[in-house]
Amino acid sequence: MRSKIVAGNWKMNKTYQETKSFVKELTKEVKKVKLDNTRVIIAPSFTNLQKASKKTKGCKIEVAAQNMCAMESGAFTGEISASMIKNVHVDIVILGHSERREYFGETNESLAAKVNTALKNKLEVIFCFGEVLEDRKSKNHFKVVEEQIKEALFHLTSDDWKHIILAYEPVWAIGTGETASPEQAQEMHAFVRELVAERYISDVSEEVSILYGGSVKPANAKEIFSKEDVDGGLIGGAALKVDDFVALIKAI
Ligand code: 13P
Repeated sequence: MRSKIVAGNWKMNKTYQETKSFVKELTKEVKKVKLDNTRVIIAPSFTNLQKASKKTKGCKIEVAAQNMCAMESGAFTGEISASMIKNVHVDIVILGHSERREYFGETNESLAAKVNTALKNKLEVIFCFGEVLEDRKSKNHFKVVEEQIKEALFHLTSDDWKHIILAYEPVWAIGTGETASPEQAQEMHAFVRELVAERYISDVSEEVSILYGGSVKPANAKEIFSKEDVDGGLIGGAALKVDDFVALIKAI
């Protein structure tokens, strides 16, 4: 059975002190919740990964990095390698977020290389994809998403897919307050699962968790999470407050 996942992408938010107190409070709250098949993940900035991973040790909160260099090591000023992430006991990395694509020039091709490096280093990947508003308006959203997934992920083996989590994040819904309707999310998630089913054995498409991201908050989470092919959320703004984040965990 595929996992349900609530993941908080903190983006460029929270200092060291803020990370420490957030994690302290969150671990206390998460202990009170019956998680069953649900995974809880937080993705702080690089400078706070080590603190977060230490503080969450032994409790059911996992920690993810928000990005990673495709290169293993060397003269790449300012970059962080997969082994550096693993070295602070972090086993998950978010790749392909639309903000990385838009502001830092990441492409399906460069993301394929990052995915390879991550898997080689035994990092699990939360792979983000999603269309911009013009794509949806021109009814190109399925085509764009298909390309993003095929070009970055379809060279992988069925075994590799055990370490892939997908996250559909329509760019027009990120940080805008405008959420995709539960039906729009379900439609795209079902499309993606079918795409994966056509390329791989059915185990892969049935087992891969597909998260929705884009203005998810306690008020709309239940309805979105209730859709058959929506296995949880990748959350930005609402993941920055313990109360809201816990409400999202409970919603699932
Ligand atoms: P918001 O929840 O703030 O819209 O952000 C979504 C997101 O980009 C998560 O990666």
